Amino acid sequence: MMRRVIKKDKLALLGGPKTIDEKAGRGLKCAWAGKGLEQALCEYTGAKYARCVSSGTAALISSLFAAGVGPGDEVLTVAFTWVATPGAVLRCNAVPIFVDVDPKTLTMDVADLRRKITPQTKAILPVDFYGHPAPIPEIMEVAEKHGLLVIEDACQASTAEINGAKVGNIAHMTAFSWSGKPIYSSVGGGAYLTNDRRLFESALLAGQHPTVIQGLATDPDVLRYASMGGTGDNMRAVGGDAMAQLLDAEVRTAARICNCEFLTGKLKDIPGITPPYVRPGYRHVYHYYTCLWDPAVHGVSRDRFCEALNAEGLAVVAYVQDANHYFAPESKPIQAGGPCHLRTVFQERNLYGKGCPFLCPHVKNPPVYRKGDLPVSEETTLREFCIMQRDISPPCDERDMQLIVDAIKKVVDNIDLLRA
Ligand SMILES: Cc1ncc(COP(=O)(O)O)c(C=O)c1O
Repeated sequence: MMRRVIKKDKLALLGGPKTIDEKAGRGLKCAWAGKGLEQALCEYTGAKYARCVSSGTAALISSLFAAGVGPGDEVLTVAFTWVATPGAVLRCNAVPIFVDVDPKTLTMDVADLRRKITPQTKAILPVDFYGHPAPIPEIMEVAEKHGLLVIEDACQASTAEINGAKVGNIAHMTAFSWSGKPIYSSVGGGAYLTNDRRLFESALLAGQHPTVIQGLATDPDVLRYASMGGTGDNMRAVGGDAMAQLLDAEVRTAARICNCEFLTGKLKDIPGITPPYVRPGYRHVYHYYTCLWDPAVHGVSRDRFCEALNAEGLAVVAYVQDANHYFAPESKPIQAGGPCHLRTVFQERNLYGKGCPFLCPHVKNPPVYRKGDLPVSEETTLREFCIMQRDISPPCDERDMQLIVDAIKKVVDNIDLLRA
């Protein structure tokens, strides 16, 4: 009997499609090594355009700039994040309006997002916090309805996925960071990614060299400003070894997920501890492994519990409250006072002097940032404790994860002693 040959099975030798085909996005990763990081990022994520910049912060500023965010504009984002997220909005002279987070994924709450849209809203800036992607498909729906752009802060989630699609290829623009992140470079750096040529080119104006803009841009509206390098800022990439990390990122991410699933399996039944939640269809890449501690269960505060874990040799950090004090060797916990909206800059509302950007004449309804505005973000800040990426990534394996579990169990088993 003749075997029916369906078209896709036809041998390449006989005119069929190639199995390994870089042009079709099915290249072998080793082939990336000979290419630039930007092209490799496009192939890895499926995004059409990528530009490497000096940091994740620069990627956020470039993206906001491309979206036309400026004085008087409101950007909807979260306060339960790293400082660079709202900081990038302020650098564009716009005002962040904070949306609360979902208590399970710790990412933007879409219902609260809907409530906070106003005629002044220019863009939405969700964060894939701790490596769990924000609900970008739902956020894109809201954005479409209101004619807004979505810039995804995927600085902590550069290898994450939603329903099989890689982060970087879902929102209108996406920002990556290489500074201690799932794709890492010893000298930091980052990139912005988009499928929109106009956004790609406009973002160059935030901080690229005049000759780079001249060389890459085709849009006359962008080229007009090339002579000044757009804003005249310098956000150019600094090189580094992110390329080597990208080649390794999948293997490393998969091993970290495996380690974290082991931890979750062991920690989920310990009273007072809620391990990280993973939404079905979402690939959480665990920039940090973040659990919630319930102080009411044992009558012991999160900080006292963390103190005991640190003494056992397990480095845990209250990331938002302490502004990630493990970031540098000379650092100390700063007791930030809560999520970003409660920090001095937002309480004083006078970043650039004369009240700008919060109270400048372009702002129709100057925002007020109050305690109690974001109940989930505020409560989570007091309950979370995070195990750092380095301690859950290869070469750490099941033996190391068991040591982490042992340390946590030992403290919980002796919790009565901490109460005293
Ligand atoms: C959520 C988030 N956004 C933005 C950034 C900024 O990245 P970079 O430090 O590369 O500027 C970070 C860095 O930690 C981050 O965690």
